[in-house]
Amino acid sequence: MAHQFVAVLDFGGQYNQLIARRVRECGVYCEVFRYTMPLEELKAKAPVGIIFTGGPNSVYEENAPRISREVFALGVPVLGICYGNQLMAYTLGGKVAPAPAREYGKTQTYYNTASLLFKGLEEKAVSWMSHTDYVETLPEGFVSVAHTDNCPCAAMENPAKKLYGMQFHPEVMHTENGLKMLHNFLYEVCGCKGDWTMGDYAKTAVESIRQKVGSGRVLLALSGGVDSSVAAALLSKAIGSQLTCIFVDHGLMRKDEGDEVERAFQNSDLHFVRVNAEKRFLSKLAGVTEPEQKRKIIGEEFIRVFEEEAKKIGKVDFLAQGTIYPDVIESGTGDAAVIKSHHNVGGLPDYVDFKEIIEPLRLLFKDEVRSLGLELGLPEYLVWRQPFPGPGLAIRCIGEVTKEKLDILRDADFIFREEIAKAGLDKSVNQYFAVITDMRSVGVMGDGRTYDYTLALRSVTTTDFMTADWARIPYDVLDTVSRRIVNEVRHINRIVYDITSKPPATIEWE
Ligand code: XMP
Repeated sequence: MAHQFVAVLDFGGQYNQLIARRVRECGVYCEVFRYTMPLEELKAKAPVGIIFTGGPNSVYEENAPRISREVFALGVPVLGICYGNQLMAYTLGGKVAPAPAREYGKTQTYYNTASLLFKGLEEKAVSWMSHTDYVETLPEGFVSVAHTDNCPCAAMENPAKKLYGMQFHPEVMHTENGLKMLHNFLYEVCGCKGDWTMGDYAKTAVESIRQKVGSGRVLLALSGGVDSSVAAALLSKAIGSQLTCIFVDHGLMRKDEGDEVERAFQNSDLHFVRVNAEKRFLSKLAGVTEPEQKRKIIGEEFIRVFEEEAKKIGKVDFLAQGTIYPDVIESGTGDAAVIKSHHNVGGLPDYVDFKEIIEPLRLLFKDEVRSLGLELGLPEYLVWRQPFPGPGLAIRCIGEVTKEKLDILRDADFIFREEIAKAGLDKSVNQYFAVITDMRSVGVMGDGRTYDYTLALRSVTTTDFMTADWARIPYDVLDTVSRRIVNEVRHINRIVYDITSKPPATIEWE
């Protein structure tokens, strides 16, 4: 496969995979490597461009990550971002120092549009800054091509040598035109042709799964959500009947969802096992109200059920999971804080005898997972299924989880989803669902007093699920939803709409 290839060298910043994802978004194949990768290896891969990521260090600290000067002499264009920019300046003889004013967040920035990086873009726009150091003296041959009120060099270039640096983060959404800047680097500077697609990703992934698995057997826990379904489709394409999927139906699925999932895999070669375990889960959850405890119980019970089924299958060589990139970071890697314990990540099991875990989606973002799913021929309704948390409706059922509350929630949630789809909002609103609160209030229906549950509607727009805004659903749609739910679903007499973004709230309520 002779795709043009861009190497992203990782200096430990928090947006490294995001940079890779943006490059892919521009139709260019890329891979992330540690900055310690030997130069010879890098050269052998023949990249058409190299991007240095940000990182938490200061270049003048003794143990800060360094890079060999020779990388700049390869004749391959280099773009340094944030720490990468400072490192380039430092390595080539410029001076990096603590900035007189630290810049953090959205910053008005002035660009020289004669630079190829900013070609065709606005001269004045907002960039996302996050730095305490800055390039005080530019290395020889470089000129500044962007500045802010506090930072005389927000971007620099040496066009003759095809070396470029940006102090801000073009990869984050808050930088206006950030994607276009990366696009300019790739197409105007590196000469990329855009010869890479999600289809290529699928091919490469299928190949590497085949290589890794050989004639081994793989077991996948299918939760029914988009991620594990796409992982199942990918693995099934790669290794067909060597794959067994165990679908643990914990009774916490949305309305009719268990059957839909089963149907989607009916005609594949893979072995599909559905376990109906509602009773087991509900009895473990009886009386439990604390969110993290619910998650842990479900996670553990899931493993228990899975284990029992796996034992029936016998020895497997690999355990596969549909973990995607945002799960990986939110569950905390390294020093990152744990926000919620996502039950499909980490802490896994010594319960099934297997060699290794395969996570074929580990580096992908949600929308990439969807396009991969379509590429693999999964039906639209499954691919466009909203993300659904592993612990299912249990974390949308505030307080104790009971069959009664779950059934009410399922019916109400179904109506909400149906109306969103009818209004044509199902692709622009990225996640929408109902939450049954543990609160009851007084209402009046007909001539009688009611004392019933309050239902909350939650819907958000987001690209990466790490931050999200509440969706501005038209009042008319909300009105229809509210009327229908109160009329059609017993035991709900009040409906509220959640208008908090993430942060400070999370998308799910628990
Ligand atoms: P939060 O609530 O953390 O959710 O803002 C971010 C996204 O992750 C989903 N989510 C989960 N997905 N296992 C999953 O696979 C989980 O335990 C889990 N918890 C939350 C959530 O639905 C949203 O899309």
